[in-house]
Amino acid sequence: MNKSLRKPVIAGNWKMNNNPAQAAALIEQLKPLVKDASCEVVACVPYIDLHAALKAAEGTNIQIGAQNCHWAASGAFTGEIPAAMLKELGVPYVIIGHSERRQYFGETDLTVRDRTRAALDAGLKVILCVGELKEQRLRNITAEVVRMQTKLALEGVTEKELENIVIAYEPVWAIGTGLTATPEQANEVNLLIRQLIAELYGKAAADKTVIQYGGSMNEKNAGELLAMPDIDGGLIGGASLAAEKFAAIVTATKQ
Ligand code: 13P
Repeated sequence: MNKSLRKPVIAGNWKMNNNPAQAAALIEQLKPLVKDASCEVVACVPYIDLHAALKAAEGTNIQIGAQNCHWAASGAFTGEIPAAMLKELGVPYVIIGHSERRQYFGETDLTVRDRTRAALDAGLKVILCVGELKEQRLRNITAEVVRMQTKLALEGVTEKELENIVIAYEPVWAIGTGLTATPEQANEVNLLIRQLIAELYGKAAADKTVIQYGGSMNEKNAGELLAMPDIDGGLIGGASLAAEKFAAIVTATKQ
């Protein structure tokens, strides 16, 4: 598989952190640090920060993302935000299926599929998260779990639409724990996701699909993770909240 066919994507997932003023300030700090990036740079911020973040990032290479969107266009869904509203605001990216949504908010493989569909229909780029729990890895069913999550999320997605999907492999046991998957463990799963994409869409599509790793990626371990043949970037939580750390991960894609 030829890694040069893919432009890495380094995305920060700020989760439930930073108010609009803090968001604008962090983007301002990031601007000079990532302006020469050879990868795509994305910051996925809380909904309430989107406006400020978009404004701060205007005219730069920093793209803004949301952390979820609903599957319906409108209606009685208290607390939810439809994909079209994000698009209207000028948001290019949205994270779908993050393990924290699956763990705490009842997100299932089918709601992930439906949210992905809505996001694609609205013209958003999707960062689709998959990953196994610790118990699943211990039971040796990581491949089955990740294949199922990915396959169901992509149900109905065409080869053309796949170009607007970045897949993020995030082992749940590595998220926020400081326990990073080894480069070999991460690459093994990224490769099996790529093999699944090849089964579903053919080798050319698989070669083009950006597959990130996420889970305690930081400025220290990013280099060796990003050097692996099937790791095309990262989805970064904690380390994305500090401009220097996040920028160092962006720079690590240049190796
Ligand atoms: P951490 O980098 O804090 O482990 O979070 C990873 C993550 O969940 C990104 O979506």
